[in-house]
Amino acid sequence: MSPEDASRVVLVTGAARRIGAEIVRGLHAAGCRLAVHYHHSAREANTLAEELNAIRPGSVRLVQANLAETGKLMELADHAAHFWGRLDGLVNNASAFYATPLETVTEAQWDDLMASNLKAPFFLAQAAAKHLRRQGGSIVNIVDIYAERPLRNYSVYSIAKAGLSAVTRALAVELAQEVRVNGIAPGAILWPEQEQDSKARADILARIPLERPGSPSDISRAVRFLLEEAPYMTGQIITVDGGRSVLI
Ligand SMILES: NC(=O)c1ccc[n+]([C@@H]2O[C@H](COP(=O)([O-])OP(=O)(O)OC[C@H]3O[C@@H](n4cnc5c(N)ncnc54)[C@H](OP(=O)(O)O)[C@@H]3O)[C@@H](O)[C@H]2O)c1
Repeated sequence: MSPEDASRVVLVTGAARRIGAEIVRGLHAAGCRLAVHYHHSAREANTLAEELNAIRPGSVRLVQANLAETGKLMELADHAAHFWGRLDGLVNNASAFYATPLETVTEAQWDDLMASNLKAPFFLAQAAAKHLRRQGGSIVNIVDIYAERPLRNYSVYSIAKAGLSAVTRALAVELAQEVRVNGIAPGAILWPEQEQDSKARADILARIPLERPGSPSDISRAVRFLLEEAPYMTGQIITVDGGRSVLI
């Protein structure tokens, strides 16, 4: 097998842009081949694939899916595994994020936030497990510090991420021996695009001991560590938040 054939294959969800794209770049720089999942961001996904395939031809493939369609998740995992005949890693990064004040939250919003943040990571892990088992692979779930200390007016998102923390521990036990399952809880990394509240941002920054937001590469490095350099870690969630969770 050539070195290229031997390189690990990782599926990253919601990876066309922002933190997901940086996770892809970091794993690619480490020599992995990437199945880049996207939903609506086809243009960004194609640009990312072109950028990385120019560095190593044939090292990035794209896969499109709405993760709310649970029945399609098996196909998504199989698709990713069939690109190169193996799957070594799954990074559950995709997420919907918006406010749901208790007075106005709807069942449709509950279902939507639970779908990408909790249900899809669980059923995608189920779908990927047979492939990952074969490789002694690993799963990384991107959680949030709000799983432990909920964000006001974002109860459904916070609950979903708390569920994803539980998924991380439960599947670590269930898949132990063959597949490690860990998580990363980011703090303020990239501000949500739909929210421009500068006072809220200043309030958050004032409570970060390192006095700055993190960068997507902080998350990418932690993902790389959990996938590639942590053979004795499973069921753990690493907080990457500049120390913020120590204060809130
Ligand atoms: N940004 C932060 O500072 C921060 C802080 C704490 C935790 N996190 C966590 O870190 C991860 C990445 O954060 P981010 O801000 O980069 O995420 P993001 O931009 O808000 O979302 C990432 C991607 O999720 C995909 N997605 C959403 N709903 C989907 C669905 N139903 N089906 C398929 N894909 C769906 C979207 O893909 P398309 O664009 O292709 O539609 C989107 O680009 C998330 O899990 C987030 O909860 C982020």
